[in-house]
This record gives sequence, C-alpha cells and structure tokens, in this order.
Amino acid sequence: MNSYFGLLVSITGLIVLLQFGNFVDCNKPQVPCYFIFGDSFVDSGNNNQLKSNWKANFPPYGIDFPKGHTGRFTNGRTFADIIGQFLGFDEFIPPYATATDDQISKGVNYASGGAGIQEITGSHNGDRASLDLQLIHHNSTISRIQNKTTFLKQCIYLINIGAHDFISNYYHLSNDRYYKASEIYKLDVYSDLLMQQYSRQLRTLYNLGGRKIVLFGLTQLGCSPYVVERYKPTGQACQLMVDDSIYVFNNRLKPLVDELNKEKSDARFIFINTTSILHRHEVAPVPPPSSPLATTIPARTDDTKLLARSCCPIDGDWACILNSVPCPSRSSSTYFDSVHHTEPTNIAIATRSYKALLPTDAYPYDIHHLTEV
Ligand SMILES: *[C@@H]1O[C@H](CO)[C@@H](O)[C@H](O)[C@H]1NC(C)=O
Ligand SMILES: *[C@@H]1O[C@H](CO)[C@@H](O)[C@H](O)[C@H]1NC(C)=O
Ligand SMILES: *[C@@H]1O[C@H](CO)[C@@H](O)[C@H](O)[C@H]1NC(C)=O
Repeated sequence: MNSYFGLLVSITGLIVLLQFGNFVDCNKPQVPCYFIFGDSFVDSGNNNQLKSNWKANFPPYGIDFPKGHTGRFTNGRTFADIIGQFLGFDEFIPPYATATDDQISKGVNYASGGAGIQEITGSHNGDRASLDLQLIHHNSTISRIQNKTTFLKQCIYLINIGAHDFISNYYHLSNDRYYKASEIYKLDVYSDLLMQQYSRQLRTLYNLGGRKIVLFGLTQLGCSPYVVERYKPTGQACQLMVDDSIYVFNNRLKPLVDELNKEKSDARFIFINTTSILHRHEVAPVPPPSSPLATTIPARTDDTKLLARSCCPIDGDWACILNSVPCPSRSSSTYFDSVHHTEPTNIAIATRSYKALLPTDAYPYDIHHLTEV
C-alpha cells in the first residue's frame, strides 16, 4: 500500500490512482527499464534548451500536469508517461537532456518535438533530434550503464515517429527551401523510402540490445485542426489526402513488424494501431462500464468538425498562445493545440495499447503481453 499513498500525494489524483489500481502490482515495475523514442507526441522536455520553435515549455501546456509546463506538448501526461505508469514505474522516465547517471538505469526519453525518420524533417522550425540522433544518444546512454547485456534485453522500447515526415516534410507547403520530397517522389515511393530507413533504424536499436519494441502507427492527422486549417480551400472537415498517406504508412508498418519478428527470432516487435483506438468515422466502443476511465475518454462521434478543434487558442501554425486560457473541459476535446492531443485522448491511447480492447488495436499483441514474453 505504500505506493498507493505515494501516488496520492505525487500525481494528479483520482484518475491516475485508479489506473494504478487497475494494473499495477504494488512493488516492482513489470520490466526493469523503459526507453522512449519519437516526436512531440511523447517528448517530455528534450527540446527546452534547443534553438527551436518546436517547444511547449510554457503555459498553458502542462496546466493539468503536477510539475506544470515541462515541455510536454499537451495539458497533462503524454501517452508514453501513462504507459510507464501502467508498467509500474513510480516516476516518469526522464528526458535525455537532463537525465542523471542514477536515473538512466530505469530508462531515458529521447523524443524530440518535430523529429522524423528523415534527418531533414521538421527543420523549418529549428533544431530537433531526428530518430538517427536519438539512436546515437541511446548508444551514449548505454555506454554509461553497467551489466547492460542482460539488462537491456528486458526493457520496453517505445517509438512514436513518422507523423512529421508527412506534415513537416512531404506535405509542408512547397515554395519553401526545406523540403523537396513531394516534388521528387510519389507518395508510395516516399513511404517505401521512409520504411527502408525506419527498418535500418530499428535494426540499429536491435543491435544496441533492444528486444521488446513497440511501434506506434500514425494517428489520423488529416482531421487535426492544423491540417484542416492549412487545406481549408478544399472545404473538408478532414483532409483525406493526409489521412490516405497515414493509411499507406501504417499498412507498411505492419508487414515490417512481421519481417523483423521473423528475422530476429529473439526479439518481439509490436504495432499499435492508433487509428483503431481513435477511430472517428464510426462510434468507437467505450471501455467496460466498470472501468474508471470510461468517463474520462472523449466521446467519439462522427462529427469531424467537432473533433477538429483545438482546446487552446492558437498562435501561428500549431502552438497554444503563451499564457492563454484553454477550454475548461479538456475531456471534451481530442486536441489540446492544433496538432497534439489532450491528456484524456492520451489516456485512451495508453489504455488500449497497454491492454487492447479490439483485436485491431495491437498487432500481434498488446504491450502488457509484450512484458510477459
Ligand atoms: C556505438 O558507440 C560505439 C562506441 O563509440 C561505436 O563503436 C558503435 O559503432 C556505436 N554503435 C552504433 C549503432 O551507433
Ligand atoms: C543492473 O545494474 C543496475 C545498476 O547499474 C541495477 O540497478 C540493476 O538492478 C541491474 N539489473 C540487472 C538485471 O542485473
Ligand atoms: C487499424 O485499424 C483500422 C480500424 O479498425 C483498420 O481499418 C486498419 O486496417 C488497421 N490498420 C492496420 C495497419 O492494421
């Protein structure tokens, strides 16, 4: 019961408390360590010191987070934070930028707002750590860890990457000097190139000791307020062109999981289908009535106009206006700013990736199962 009281004082109250009660055996995390890679959806402060517009270390970001604005691109916890709690960690995994030697043996978060599979992705907004650089950072972390060979194989590795390779690269409005991909490649070819590069990066992670690897597919960014606003002339509530590319990407990610599982028989890769979890064109099943989460997950409707609205007032492209007042009821909004989700949406993603509700949520199985194989 010790951790019960620890939680009571340390974290935002009831929701978290009940989540812990659901999944956590009171003492020890289910895995010894947890490493996080990716972009702004899971960044927890790595960009704070960079010369970059990819930042969220100011209010109203973090308005529902115990430590306030830490650099997380949401009002509360990211889904990677919440998955860490489901895994039984009593503290959030620290960002690489500030992690101390004492902290790194439980894991490090390398994610960086604006980052992509491709090096150049996101560069119009300044510095960020691409996935390649994040892997270099990981290499440097593990050189600081003792007993690493057995240890690193038991960790969970979460990767959420790829969205910016579309919205901050391929589909970034042209006549800018940064991105030429859409002039050179058809969508199919570009997606193949991304997959080839991602596949190399995943093999690098394997070579650095990763064996339990969770790959998040892309969410339907075509319905995000940012994309809807950008392509307004087409007059659609959701920008199908962008969603189609996400469909193409996700459909290549699943076979990649099969391929890697076959090739690396001592490793387990899984794919999380966030499209299934946040399905918006039909009413998504709600969690079982007994679940305390039932009331905190935003109601899903097929009213895409309603969903394509950010909770905070927007400055420029996508970010909340500094010190602005966000919508009072975060649980009724899918998006916090015009790209990133509210914490209630993150709770839905974390809950169903940890324990799948529908067979389509996770392939070949969910994160909870991955901890047991
Ligand atoms: C990791 O670092 C070591 C030592 O600097 C280097 O030899 C190795 O090639 C690096 N591995 C990767 C995958 O970057
Ligand atoms: C590995 O070493 C760290 C300290 O460096 C220790 O906390 C951890 O329990 C060890 N893990 C294993 C699996 O031996
Ligand atoms: C993800 O789930 C959606 C909705 O259930 C489904 O249509 C789609 O085929 C799934 N994607 C993949 C790559 O499995």
